[in-house]
Amino acid sequence: MLVSPSILSANFAALAEDLKTVDRSDMFHIDVMDGVFVPNISFGMPIISSIRKGFDNVFDVHLMIKDPLPYIEDFKKAGADYITVHYEAENAEASLKKIRECGLKAGLSVKPATAISEIEHLLPLCDLVLVMTVEPGFGGQKLIPDCLVKGNQLKKIRAEKGYSYIIEADGGINFQNAPLLEESGMDCLVMGSAVFGILPEERNKAIVSLNGKGN
Ligand code: DX5
Ligand code: ZN
Repeated sequence: MLVSPSILSANFAALAEDLKTVDRSDMFHIDVMDGVFVPNISFGMPIISSIRKGFDNVFDVHLMIKDPLPYIEDFKKAGADYITVHYEAENAEASLKKIRECGLKAGLSVKPATAISEIEHLLPLCDLVLVMTVEPGFGGQKLIPDCLVKGNQLKKIRAEKGYSYIIEADGGINFQNAPLLEESGMDCLVMGSAVFGILPEERNKAIVSLNGKGN
C-alpha cells in the first residue's frame, strides 16, 4: 500500500520540518485549490518549488482548479511528478495529454457523484486515477463509503484492458479504515488530518506500518 500524506494538514509555519516527520511516505500529496472549482483557496507553485529542494519523495499534485490546462508547465517547473486534474473541471482530456507531453505522470480525479463509466474513455491517458472519498475542498471530513466501490471497478478495468494506472483514494482516510480501502482495491492512500494529527515522532512509524518501507 502506498501512502501520500496531504500537506494541506501540515504546519505551514514550519513546513519543511513538518514534512521530515512524514518523509518515509512514497509521495507527498499537494492540494492546489483556486476558490472557484472548490470553495477554498490553498497555495500554488511557490510553495511547491520551495519544498522540492529538500525532498526526493514523489510530488503528487492534485489540482482542484477550474481550468488546469494553462498551468501544467508551471507545475512541472515547480517540481510536480504526477499532476492530477478533475474530470469535472475544464479541459480535462487536453490537460491529461499535455501532462504526458511534458514528461510527467497524468492523473484524473472523480468527485463522489461521478461514476467510473463516465471516465472510461479517458483511462488510456491515465497513470493515476484519484477517487475522491469526500467532496473536494477541505481536509478533515468524513469518508463517504459509497465511493469505495470505484476502487474495485477501476481495478477490474485495469486488468481487462491492460492499463497500469495507480488507484488512489483521497478524503477521510485514517489508520482505522485503511484496511477497508485496501480491500476496496485502492493502491495508494492520501492521508491528511490522520497523519498530521498524531505526534510528530510517531508519524513515520505509522506510515511504515502501511507502506512497509522499513530500513
Ligand atoms: C480534499 C483534499 C484532500 C485532503 C485530505 O479536497 O483533496 O487531499 O487534504 O484530507 P483528510 O485526509 O484530512 O481528509
Ligand atoms: Zn487531494
